[in-house]
Amino acid sequence: MPAVNKICCSRLYVGGPTCAVIALKCPHLQVTIVDLNKARVDAWNSPDFNLPIYEPGLEDVIREARGRNLFFSTDVDKGIQEADLIFVSVNTPTKKSGVGAGFAADLNYVELATRRIAAVAHSSKIVVEKSTVPCRTAESMRTILEANSRPNCHFDILSNPEFLAEGTAISDLFSPDRVLIGSLQTTEGRAACSALAEVYANWVPKNNILTVGLWSSELSKLAANAMLAQRISSVNALSAICEATGANIDEVAHAVGRDSRIGSKFLRASVGFGGSCFQKDILNLVYLSESLHLPEVANYWRQVVVMNEYQKKRFSKTVVDTLFNTITGKHIAVLGFAFKADTGDTRESAAISLIRDFHSEKALVHIYDPQVEREQIWADLAEANPFTLLDAMKKRVTICSSALEACKNAEAVVIATEWKEFRDIDWEAVYQGMNKPAFVFDGRLLLDADALRKIGFKVTVIGRGE
Ligand code: UGA
Repeated sequence: MPAVNKICCSRLYVGGPTCAVIALKCPHLQVTIVDLNKARVDAWNSPDFNLPIYEPGLEDVIREARGRNLFFSTDVDKGIQEADLIFVSVNTPTKKSGVGAGFAADLNYVELATRRIAAVAHSSKIVVEKSTVPCRTAESMRTILEANSRPNCHFDILSNPEFLAEGTAISDLFSPDRVLIGSLQTTEGRAACSALAEVYANWVPKNNILTVGLWSSELSKLAANAMLAQRISSVNALSAICEATGANIDEVAHAVGRDSRIGSKFLRASVGFGGSCFQKDILNLVYLSESLHLPEVANYWRQVVVMNEYQKKRFSKTVVDTLFNTITGKHIAVLGFAFKADTGDTRESAAISLIRDFHSEKALVHIYDPQVEREQIWADLAEANPFTLLDAMKKRVTICSSALEACKNAEAVVIATEWKEFRDIDWEAVYQGMNKPAFVFDGRLLLDADALRKIGFKVTVIGRGE
């Protein structure tokens, strides 16, 4: 089995927290996270722990391990040369142009990282694919490495997808449901797989470390995300029936989830799932199915995304319909911009779609989110509204510093992200400051609707027919 003493990881969301936790749990290993972006590396190294991502518990991990056996550097080549094992954890966005545009993953960064490893490595390495990638990407990586490596350099490729969720990354990493490692079923492949399994075995029970073939590992990652997203689209489809019939989606989800074959998690109706992974991975699966000439399979998975888009549109239409069929010139407070609570990440956030819809209806939108930076909100809105000049948008969209400020003089409050602090707002004060009738639209099943009604609000909750 190859000895692993030094680990290198190339950047990004999962790369940072995962390798920081490996460093924390394996003080005998040296872990270096490399990134060409100097500003990001400086942030990881900042003396006051002003880290580039917000993740509960991450700062404590960095405080303990940084400088001990965890290092952040822009010297990518040195990181590669010194490491025995390299995690390739680069971005794989959906392609915006060319073959498979809108569906297939853009593997440019994976290929660039692989070519760089081949070009600078002087010794044999285990290369671990950590990014979510289409099936058989490892095969391409292997071909590139073999074609470009120096004599006496041998590369073993592993797939080790990450299953952490944002906002709970550190607790997910501390006690994962499972760690999945895929390898070629050769003697060398299995030995490399054992070497990585040994690293995780420092804190993960061996029973929870699953070793499978390379392609199974790659497909399992896409499958897990697709099935999680499918649960949300299923419950959101039911939420529409609940609203039309007077049933309550909380009660339905609870009753359904009590069946141990179904389980209670991930059955929370919402204004639509967001995040950088679900939509991207499903579209990837759709593209894969189409490439394999399996159109029925492709259509099946595509419908999960179609339902998600429908849910977002349905919600903004409910707002317009309830506000007497027009929101032109009306002041709407949108509370929450992140794609879920406990993260500052806004990728594919449902809030972006809602605000685009409200903006196109010429409403005055006031936004508040406790974590998302103003610049990020403007960047997202500019991208979602390519035909509107930012200055024109700023006349009708305002970013506020508190929920109370956002709700002042509003006709309606929309809960777009389930931040707990929105539950604890002084709703009496919000009511006093709003135009009447004062409407609340809870897209996250977050608020106590009855308590709000007692104050005087007119409340609409997703999935609840009243
Ligand atoms: C997701 C998966 O949960 C992780 O296992 C996976 O590793 C990750 O993608 C990834 O591939 O990187 P993440 O996107 O961080 O994690 O967040 P989730 O907690 O899965 O939430 C995704 C979206 O679904 C959010 O917008 C959330 O609000 C929504 N959601 C979640 C619901 O609407 N209802 C639910 O019951 C659960």
